[in-house]
Amino acid sequence: MSANAVTATLDVDPVTVRPVIRFLQGPTLLGQTPFVPGKTLVEHAEEAGVDIPTNCTSGTCGACLVSLVYGDVPLPEELPPGLDDFLVEEGGRLGCIGVPNGDVDIDIRPPL
Ligand code: FES
Repeated sequence: MSANAVTATLDVDPVTVRPVIRFLQGPTLLGQTPFVPGKTLVEHAEEAGVDIPTNCTSGTCGACLVSLVYGDVPLPEELPPGLDDFLVEEGGRLGCIGVPNGDVDIDIRPPL
């Protein structure tokens, strides 16, 4: 299985190159791609063959809202219009401006 395989589920230990960005929909692994410093979640998703909807690509509209399941996607000091404290507490991150720090698991569904 290659690092970009799209068929594994979480109960199967996927062959991975660490660090890796994984994209899930619930328990299903949709795709994964090696972590590239400075790339956004949306850019990583494109590499993994996973579609995250976008609109403004600037943190304003919230179209790219996803859920952080594992790892670190730092937030800007001031939350952009597309996020609020409640969404952040539920793991919400904006894919268009969110830049992961190493291994990250992302559920492409927004929180709630
Ligand atoms: S595409 Fe609008 S907030 Fe990300």
